[in-house]
Amino acid sequence: MTKILYVDDNSLSEAKRIITSGGVIAFPTETVYGLGANAFDSQAVNSIFAIKGRPNDNPLIVHVHKDYDITELVSDIPEYAVKLAKAFLPGPLTMVYKSKGTVSSAVSCGLDTLAIRIPSHPIAQRFLEYVNLPVAAPSANISRHVSPTSAEHVYADLKDKVEIILDGGRCSGGIESTVLDCTGEIPVILRSGLVTREDIASVTGNCGLFEYREGIVARSPGMKYKHYSPDCKTLLFSVNELGEALKHYEEETKKGLKVYFLADETVSLKLKDKNVLSLGKTAEDIATNLYEKLREGEKVADLIIAVAPESADGIMVGVMNRLTKACKS
Ligand code: TXA
Ligand code: MG
Repeated sequence: MTKILYVDDNSLSEAKRIITSGGVIAFPTETVYGLGANAFDSQAVNSIFAIKGRPNDNPLIVHVHKDYDITELVSDIPEYAVKLAKAFLPGPLTMVYKSKGTVSSAVSCGLDTLAIRIPSHPIAQRFLEYVNLPVAAPSANISRHVSPTSAEHVYADLKDKVEIILDGGRCSGGIESTVLDCTGEIPVILRSGLVTREDIASVTGNCGLFEYREGIVARSPGMKYKHYSPDCKTLLFSVNELGEALKHYEEETKKGLKVYFLADETVSLKLKDKNVLSLGKTAEDIATNLYEKLREGEKVADLIIAVAPESADGIMVGVMNRLTKACKS
C-alpha cells in the first residue's frame, strides 16, 4: 500500500527509515517528483531501475542538501562550476563531474562521471538534510511516461511499488533540471531546462549545447530514448501549420476519435469552439503546465494535437525538447 504523506517530522522520520534500510521513496522537487534511494546502496539503486522499468544504461542524478560536501563524491571541479553553483544553486541545475567512485557504480551505469543536483524545493532540502546521504533519484514515473508534477501523478504510475510519497503539492518548475557537463574546458548543456544556455553563459562567458542525433554516442544516455509520452497518440504541428492541424482535427473527429489540441494561450484563443488543453501564456507557465496537461490529455483524448508555441528560445528550448520527444512515434 502506497501512502501519500503530508510532510512533518513523522513522515520525514519514516522517509529516513526507509532510505537507510535500502528502500525507495518519492519526494517533490521544484522541477518534478523524484524516486529516491541511498546512492551508496547498490541494491537500493538497482531497485529504482526495476520499479521504473528504466534501461540500465541511463544514469541517475544524485541529490544532496545545500551543505553537503560534494568533494566526497566528485573531483576536478572547475572554477566556472564554482561560479555557476554560486549563481544557481540550490536550483534546477544538475552538474556532471568526474566521479570519485564513492557511490554505487549502478548510479552512473559504469560512466566515470557523476551528476549532482541540489534542489531548491524546501521539502526536498528538508528530506535531504534529514537523511544526510546522497540520494539517487530519477523522475518518479514509469520509464518513458510523462514525468510527475504532483503526488497524484506519482501515485498513478507507482502505486504499490513505493511505500511513501512525500506530498509537496504541484511542482512549480514543471520540466526537469538542466543537465550540464562540467568535465571540459567550457560547460556543455546535455539536457535543456529551466536554467538556460543564456543564464549559464552570462556567468561563464560561454556555454556549449550538445545535441543528440541518431548514430552518435549519447553523452547523456537519457537523450536517445523516447520519453515523456502520454498513453495516447500525439502529433506535433508548428504554429505556421495551424490550418493543417485544424484539418487533421476535423478529419479525426469525424472518424469518431476524441481529439484535443494542446497549445499556448494565444493559439488556444483561436480554437475556442474546439477541445483544447491550454498551456498558459508565458514560457514559465507553459513549462509548469506541460506535463500536467499531457497527463490530463491522455485521460480524455484518443489523439492530442500539439501546436508548438511561436517562441523557441530561453526556457522554450527545454519545453520544445520535451514536447518533441512526447510526440515522437
Ligand atoms: O529535475 C530533475 O533533474 C529530476 C528531479 C527528480 O531531480 N530528475 C530527473 O532524473 O529528471 P532523470 O533520471 O529522469 O533524468 C536524468 C538525466 C538523464 O537524461 C541522464 O542520462 C542524465 O540525467 N545523466 C545522469 N547522470 C549522468 C552522467 N553522469 N553523465 C551524463 N548524463 C547523466
Ligand atoms: Mg525522467
